[in-house]
Amino acid sequence: MKLKRKNEILLLKLGGSLLTDKNKPFFIREEVAKSTIQQIINANEKVILIHGGGSFGHPLAKKYNISKGLDKSIPNQIIGLTETHQAMIKFNSYLVNLFLERNYPVLSIQPSSIFIKDAENIIAKSIDIIETALDLKILPILYGDIIFDKQGSFSIISGDQIISELCENLQKYCVSKVIFAIETDGIFINDGDSKDKNIKLASKIFSSELDDLDLADLGKKIDVTGGIEGKIDFIKQICKFNVPVQLINGLKENYIYNSLKNEKLICTNIIIN
Ligand code: IPE
Repeated sequence: MKLKRKNEILLLKLGGSLLTDKNKPFFIREEVAKSTIQQIINANEKVILIHGGGSFGHPLAKKYNISKGLDKSIPNQIIGLTETHQAMIKFNSYLVNLFLERNYPVLSIQPSSIFIKDAENIIAKSIDIIETALDLKILPILYGDIIFDKQGSFSIISGDQIISELCENLQKYCVSKVIFAIETDGIFINDGDSKDKNIKLASKIFSSELDDLDLADLGKKIDVTGGIEGKIDFIKQICKFNVPVQLINGLKENYIYNSLKNEKLICTNIIIN
């Protein structure tokens, strides 16, 4: 009997801080967004695209403390919850339109309609919708969103969490690499060896080393879903599914295209060991 190999797929996460200015509410870096989308179209690989909240999702989520769940002491929190979701739809529609204007078939899939939480566990429903879209050569686009839980509350599902869920739950497709396009070159660590410069880019990290990284502090921005430490926690989860991870600078010319095409880049590669 011949074993059928699963179709390989790439997951690409576009960081919210890459596509928006997190310090200016609802501000899209349009040139970056257009270049990013054009690179994805040019690469024309089998991809699921996931984008973050940036200055659309985070300020509202923070204002209404959405990630901590239902809190009756916060005025208008439920309106804030729906506004957070709607802000993400607005941001997502902008990106979807960039693809459609260039005649590239993409379909937006609402994470708040296909994921639900039960206590601390995320339950992935209807992953087959994503797979059917892929079968039809449609590029599915998901995004950080609000998520309901079965206990009657809610929180935020980040793009990174969605990626981990996809790595775990895709059935017909097998994830060959997760790419995080961010606005720096990758993960920076403190460099004990260097005299003049005390931080350096970690170009290669083995999955077994992820717990012991001496992370450099690059300053913090508004982020309701955990910054770089939070990202490393998700990278650890992704590695458990034996999927290699690459963090690349989405601002560098053609880096997204080159990463989708598996070209060599100055970036951080997380290798499974
Ligand atoms: C956050 O998603 C979504 C909301 C706040 C609604 P992410 O956590 O994936 O967003 P970025 O990439 O950090 O902006």
